[in-house]
Amino acid sequence: MKTGHFSKFPIVLALLLTLRSAVKQIVAVDGMSGTWELLLNSTGVVAMHVALTHLNTVVLYDQTSSGRSAYHLPRGLPCPSVSTDADDRKESGCWAHSMEYDVATNTIRPLSIRTDTWCSSGSFLSDGTLEQTGGYNQGARRIRYFRPCADRNCDWNESSSTFLAEGRWYATNQVLPDGERVIIVGGLNVFSYEFIPKSRDDEGRL
Ligand SMILES: *[C@@H]1O[C@H](CO)[C@@H](O)[C@H](O)[C@H]1NC(C)=O
Ligand SMILES: *[C@@H]1O[C@H](CO)[C@@H](O)[C@H](O)[C@H]1NC(C)=O
Repeated sequence: MKTGHFSKFPIVLALLLTLRSAVKQIVAVDGMSGTWELLLNSTGVVAMHVALTHLNTVVLYDQTSSGRSAYHLPRGLPCPSVSTDADDRKESGCWAHSMEYDVATNTIRPLSIRTDTWCSSGSFLSDGTLEQTGGYNQGARRIRYFRPCADRNCDWNESSSTFLAEGRWYATNQVLPDGERVIIVGGLNVFSYEFIPKSRDDEGRL
């Protein structure tokens, strides 16, 4: 038994080596061989969501109730709102839960996201703005925008007057062919869809 097992070993090894050189050849043929390179040790926030913008920057954001991140927000920027919910109270300070990574300069800057984006969803509009909706707790009906800018001065903006018709957790967003409107479908235990912006108040309500 043991001998049989060992006698197979050279065959397996030969197979593996053949496979390895075959893979190497495939990689070489299409010129796509690459390696991972560590550019930064930490982004400072957890990348629950990651989106590449048309200005070659990457926006990362996490749930706001995850406590401290690596960045205390600079003075003057608004703190994420603190609700009465125990989960959200953990975010007692002004900590960034979103950041923008500039691929060209390999630099990062913290952004200020205000309400909980945990399990939120989003879609890019045709002008490159990331429209981001829903989430958890007081973030569940929020509509947020991140409009990338070349001067790196832009930040999230969140509508304080327009809300989703229903709280949406894990919804699905899809930009429509006009590039300006987004259909948002479902969410946990939410069996409806809606459009942002709406053409009538009750548009999309089931
Ligand atoms: C990551 O951290 C290690 C240990 O401090 C350091 O040696 C290395 O240079 C850092 N790498 C980058 C890309 O910053
Ligand atoms: C937020 O961004 C949206 C989309 O770019 C824009 O229409 C709106 O005017 C912005 N609001 C604020 C307060 O900047």
